Amino acid sequence: MEELVGLAKRRGFIFQSSDIYGGLQGMYDYGPLGVELKNNLKAAWWRAMVYNRDDVEGLDAAILTNPLTLRYSGHEATFTDPLVDCRACKSRWRADHLESNKCPNCGSDDLTEPRPFNLMFKTQVGPVDDGSSFAYLRPETAQAIFTNFKNVVDSTSPKLPFGIAQIGKAFRNEITPRNFIFRVREFEQMELEFFVKPGEDEQWHAKWVEERLNWWSEQGVDRNQLELYHVPADELAHYSKATVDVMYRFPHGLEELEGIANRTDFDLGSHTKNQAEYQIQAKVEPNPDSNAKLVIQDLASKQWQVPYVIEPSAGVDRGVLAIMNEAYRVEDLGDGKQRTVMAFKPHLAPIKVAVLPLKRNHEGIVTKAREIRQSLQKLGLGRILYEDTGNIGKGYRRHDEVGTPLCVTVDFQTIEQDDTVTVRNRDTMNQERIPVSELGHLVQAHLSAEHNG
Ligand code: GAP
Repeated sequence: MEELVGLAKRRGFIFQSSDIYGGLQGMYDYGPLGVELKNNLKAAWWRAMVYNRDDVEGLDAAILTNPLTLRYSGHEATFTDPLVDCRACKSRWRADHLESNKCPNCGSDDLTEPRPFNLMFKTQVGPVDDGSSFAYLRPETAQAIFTNFKNVVDSTSPKLPFGIAQIGKAFRNEITPRNFIFRVREFEQMELEFFVKPGEDEQWHAKWVEERLNWWSEQGVDRNQLELYHVPADELAHYSKATVDVMYRFPHGLEELEGIANRTDFDLGSHTKNQAEYQIQAKVEPNPDSNAKLVIQDLASKQWQVPYVIEPSAGVDRGVLAIMNEAYRVEDLGDGKQRTVMAFKPHLAPIKVAVLPLKRNHEGIVTKAREIRQSLQKLGLGRILYEDTGNIGKGYRRHDEVGTPLCVTVDFQTIEQDDTVTVRNRDTMNQERIPVSELGHLVQAHLSAEHNG
């Protein structure tokens, strides 16, 4: 983990937030390369979940949420972790994370009994601070999918089964944020709510677990580093009938990367008015505040029903950490030399191609290299970098370390003889000379999303 955190800072992937003021616990900022990696991961998820399917629509809802949404979702009452205080040093801990009944900070055993601590952040909305005008920062993106269910159904007329996908920020006032970007207080989720007929939920649940395992493999996560955890009944979230967690062997241990839950008709049922009209299976509170019926008509029976929902919910930040961990390797080159490589799948690599002029002061070479960069950029494959540090060997090393799949070097032969460039492959370190006219094709073939998930 230390090596990853060091590389992340040194190369501009991830920084401690508000670093110059001593940081803010549980918050991180994504730097020039981190933002590219993260965007690429989200784009890969969106491609798989929305573009490559005919049965999923997208959504991008507000982060601030009406408290009623989170009251009827059950989060106000139950979205808690057990908190203990150390009476000696006043530090606070999550009871289920303590290894003994001693304070990890000062060693005292004078700890309070655990009490529930609600993880939701509150903020004031509008100019009057009278306690009534508050909103929550959403603790999961899912609720806005449920509250928009009718809007999406009315505007797109889907038939069951169908899904609504969303990527966005979520906030949890974690008692003990830790392990770099693994457990933070502000993070991003990639969530799909996939609505199915009651009775078909279990088979869809199993199918989504398979789909998600395959997707993580396509992102470069070794299947042997993933395990499934069938969450036991006494650990299930309040809305879940069954949850399977995709666990990944993070540098600090085997932990949850994604949760795939069968949320039954709990959420749509909870937010629906006149619940008694429908055969809602989950135990839900009466809802006098909702003005919507979150139901869909079964075409065969003509009955209106509350669908069940299967929810694959993945953390973007945990995904970034897993992918960086998988990509990281230190290779022996012989003669006591080593190189560090981030072997990202090309579609995730922050920089797709670096174009390097052999001489940074040679006008002809520089102009040609800039032209090549521009023409590659126009292919729309992601970030193409022009880099004129002047030392090609060092340039290759640096781009190995940030995972750039291809480096293109422009030299005297390019401009004076045959309009060819050297293309250097990150993984094999092979260099081949190819005509500039073939460069676009080669780069496209190497990077195309179809070939790389
Ligand atoms: N809508 C369902 C839901 O939110 P969850 O298991 O609480 O379920 C889903 O969260 C995913 O969100 C987790 O698998 C994890 O990847 C990510 N996640 C949850 N809490 C997180 C935190 N404090 N920091 C980073 N990622 C987190």
